[in-house]
Amino acid sequence: MQRAPPTDDAMSTRKTSPRSPGKTGEADDGKTKPAAKDSPLVEPHQQPARLAECRRCALWSRATQAVGGTGPKHAPIMMVGEQPGDKEDLQGMPFVGPAGELLDDALKDAGVDRRDVYVTNAVKHFKWEPRGKRRMHKTPAQREVDACHYWLERELASVGPRVLVALGATALKAILDDRDARLQAVVGKVLEHGGRHVVPTYHPSFALRAPDEATRHRAYAAIVAALVKAGTLAQRDAGREDDA
Ligand code: URA
Repeated sequence: MQRAPPTDDAMSTRKTSPRSPGKTGEADDGKTKPAAKDSPLVEPHQQPARLAECRRCALWSRATQAVGGTGPKHAPIMMVGEQPGDKEDLQGMPFVGPAGELLDDALKDAGVDRRDVYVTNAVKHFKWEPRGKRRMHKTPAQREVDACHYWLERELASVGPRVLVALGATALKAILDDRDARLQAVVGKVLEHGGRHVVPTYHPSFALRAPDEATRHRAYAAIVAALVKAGTLAQRDAGREDDA
């Protein structure tokens, strides 16, 4: 499905010299470069104006581009994933790979209109490690989630969603700004945070990759249930605003 471009120019991710996956992270002799070490965080007065120029952590150095959120300017629902995957890194759009396909199915099954949903990630650069010729996803470190919180805050301020869907543990920690948040403790519930409803659920990759069919099925059903809940909350709040 074609997605709307990022809504905020500050979140625009055009990059002057995109890297191909084959070249990224490879030294001239074909050997893999070690991951860049963390560079110090940018001081607040040096904040980059645009996501494409972000150097708040070292992940930019091995990614093709930063991937900002996409969706309607003032979507009532924001879905937050972990970080772009291989396809997202190449295309510059969130959730355009297998996890995105599952999410599209879940939205359809939940009866939630994509036009009501802004989609983004807690971390805007793809973190990966080489395995043969493939780039394998690597979970971002908490310091990288913390560094990227700046961009999530900007998206929240500009889109102003009433409902946030946390797709997985990294998203939940980022949304709550709480490194100790535990998905298992709250999955299936609705939390209130910063004046918004937060609906925590599993990351779509979990529903794709769980080792057995029953777990995959349960995880998918939980994601659909979370989206139904998000849709209901968004509609209810919109109804209240109309009445006011
Ligand atoms: N997984 C994520 O968390 N986000 C994406 O954009 C793609 C896969």
